[in-house]
Amino acid sequence: MAQIIDGKSIAAAIKDEVKREVEALSQKGITVTLAVIQVGDNQASTVYVNNKKKACAYTGIRSLAYELPEKTGQEELLSLIQDLNKREDVDGILVQLPLPAHMDEDAVIRTISPAKDVDGFHPESVGALCIGQSGFLPCTPAGIIELLKRSDISIAGKECVVIGRSNIVGKPMAILLLRENGTVTVAHSQTANLKETAKRADILVVAIGKAKMITRDYVKPGAAVIDVGMDRDENNKLCGDVDYEDVIGTAGAITPVPGGVGPMTIAMLMKNCLESAQRRIRGI
Ligand code: GUN
Repeated sequence: MAQIIDGKSIAAAIKDEVKREVEALSQKGITVTLAVIQVGDNQASTVYVNNKKKACAYTGIRSLAYELPEKTGQEELLSLIQDLNKREDVDGILVQLPLPAHMDEDAVIRTISPAKDVDGFHPESVGALCIGQSGFLPCTPAGIIELLKRSDISIAGKECVVIGRSNIVGKPMAILLLRENGTVTVAHSQTANLKETAKRADILVVAIGKAKMITRDYVKPGAAVIDVGMDRDENNKLCGDVDYEDVIGTAGAITPVPGGVGPMTIAMLMKNCLESAQRRIRGI
């Protein structure tokens, strides 16, 4: 039986660490602040945004919520971001994605100051990540590195296979594993012999968005299997990209869905907000 990687309790530990540091800053009269912007009322986005606000409340981070109507013009959104960029009392700016179709997501992300880009989506943050300079790391892949480290799964020298090449997960995940001295392969929908490729992995990260696609046939015995999927099965029950019941007897370690990678994303967002405030205090 595989070791179950408990993302919920690891995320709780990280939020407690952040909470302690936020408290220490507060005793020096410093408040950490995250501005959260949602445009329109996409139901899934509302759930994510509420969870982010809850995590802020728990850790003592002040959250400023901007809920803009669906029909808001792009210029109005850019002007709000520019105002928040200038505000000394705002450490992080998060624009919940996806945005309504009439908006240019790239232009919006590029308007957020890299100093406040706690999602790590700005091209400058992505570039810094690629060349090993300091910048905010995207929360989901950074959370996966934390999950591995805090579960005593070493990365250096390991065969790492990432299935999926999105800008938010797959690509930055590959770079972060490389930074930790893993030997990294990125596989995707056009990869020939996906099973054979996946089966090489000591660490297999799956972010493809297809319910239960990864069965034991894709998994090397003893591998650590990290499931980024958030899907629905045939009974509309939440599940991952990995067929958990099928893989658990083969993997050495595995993340459940829910309760694996999901909670880590928000914990790392809190960590990034704290780090932004600490950089502001240090004047960098
Ligand atoms: N939409 C889905 N995931 C995310 C995320 O991590 N950040 C933002 N801003 N939007 C998202």
